[in-house]
Amino acid sequence: MTSELLQKARTFEARYGRFIPDDQRPVFHMTPNIGWMNDPNGFSIYKGEIHLFYQYHPYENKWGPMHWGHAKTRDFIRWERLPAAMAPDMPYDKDGCFSGSAIELPDGRQLLMYTGVRQVRAENGEVSDIQTQCVAIGDGENYEKLDINPIITAADLPQGGSPHDFRDPKIYKEGDTYYCLVGNRPADGSGSILLYESKDCLSWTYDGVLASCHNQYGLMWECPDFFELDGKYVLLVSPQEMNPIGLEFHAGNGTVCIIGGYDREKHHQIRECVQAIDYGLDFYAPQTLQMPDGRRVMIAWMQNWETTNCQPRGIRYFGEMTIPRELHVRDGRLIQNPVRELENYRSYQILYKNVVFSGTTSLQNVKGRVLDMTVKVRPAMENGSYQWFKINVAMDGEHYVTVRYKPESNTVRIDRTHSGFSHDIVCVRDFLVRPCQKEIKLRLILDRHSLELFVNDGEQAATAMLYTDLNADAINFEADGCVSMDVEKYDLVME
Ligand code: FRU
Repeated sequence: MTSELLQKARTFEARYGRFIPDDQRPVFHMTPNIGWMNDPNGFSIYKGEIHLFYQYHPYENKWGPMHWGHAKTRDFIRWERLPAAMAPDMPYDKDGCFSGSAIELPDGRQLLMYTGVRQVRAENGEVSDIQTQCVAIGDGENYEKLDINPIITAADLPQGGSPHDFRDPKIYKEGDTYYCLVGNRPADGSGSILLYESKDCLSWTYDGVLASCHNQYGLMWECPDFFELDGKYVLLVSPQEMNPIGLEFHAGNGTVCIIGGYDREKHHQIRECVQAIDYGLDFYAPQTLQMPDGRRVMIAWMQNWETTNCQPRGIRYFGEMTIPRELHVRDGRLIQNPVRELENYRSYQILYKNVVFSGTTSLQNVKGRVLDMTVKVRPAMENGSYQWFKINVAMDGEHYVTVRYKPESNTVRIDRTHSGFSHDIVCVRDFLVRPCQKEIKLRLILDRHSLELFVNDGEQAATAMLYTDLNADAINFEADGCVSMDVEKYDLVME
């Protein structure tokens, strides 16, 4: 049965969502029906289609009592917006249906597992969350929350665990056993990822701690995901309150990928390598699914929590998801590239080979704000060198956003200082790339107000939102020293 609260959300989004003009949305990135969106939830296959739910507050462009919005796609590019799936309409989730995941059950129904939030007031007046894990089951559009909710509670926590930070269940299946990861905060205040198992998704037993932060990478670890990939076990987490570490991690909310082995007996990940997932400014709470063809695909919220009040005016939604990315592990590192389906939308190829220049140049027909462009750069002479190379996009007389490569320091920088933000926010990120290479390959995906950069076939990714007016669509190239570059550019066109 659809509750009054859910019906209200569905009526609201149906009535007002359709008045958001298409040209206020990106062309191929997922956006909410209306209002606020944060984390991707329930990214999964159901009856042969790819479903994506999301943290949703339809009534305003700011975070509020969390609903689950819903969309689906067949190819990760063309999204169909569906009616909201859940509202915070039960005593155990009255203050929010927080993040979670989804899975298709053997009987053909779809199960959503999420965190129910209920706020309580202590005698001293302090308000805190009680977070529990809950389920709803449905047919791909309508879902019933089960009477047995909540199904994982404080009673299922290990000693020292906290019911206040106990969230974001990620469910997966191995053989005939279901597993579920949940983020938690042990007594030392740092993050840990707890593992539970079940035969029916309803009754869960605690297995142990999959991984702990020990106050090393931020504090609370949000939105965990764990999977086997290319012979390694990969854990993705989104830590809060990180301290910066070199050029690898910046302060605040970050994303961390831990690659290693897995001790099945102890249910414990064996840590080998730790890295950031995305080196840009706007990327959080990634979640993955596995495609029937074996691909592991990741999507994330293309935002960061610090700048959610820097919104363009007059637009009735806020929040975009990244382009879904295919993942691999190579040489102990995470490799990510846009899903190959994006290539089906490429049109109007422009190719330039061996363009030799120093100073500034622009190329005929290389411009636009919805495009897929790969640039390869090397010194113009065999043993030559150059100080730096820049690509400027989203340019008009006043604005530009820059991607810069500096061979000497092996760094790439993305810089949106001049993108038109009128807030004093972080606009620059530098990150390390593989040293000593003759040539660097930079692939830029632009979709109106976003830039996603993939370096050297996905060795690093860096993502940023830019709210520059869409008329700013010029592109140019700059080099300090003599370079030779190849440019391959496509418009991305949705018929
Ligand atoms: C991450 C997060 C999750 C939580 C959700 C609430 O961005 O804080 O931990 O479930 O957002 O909207």
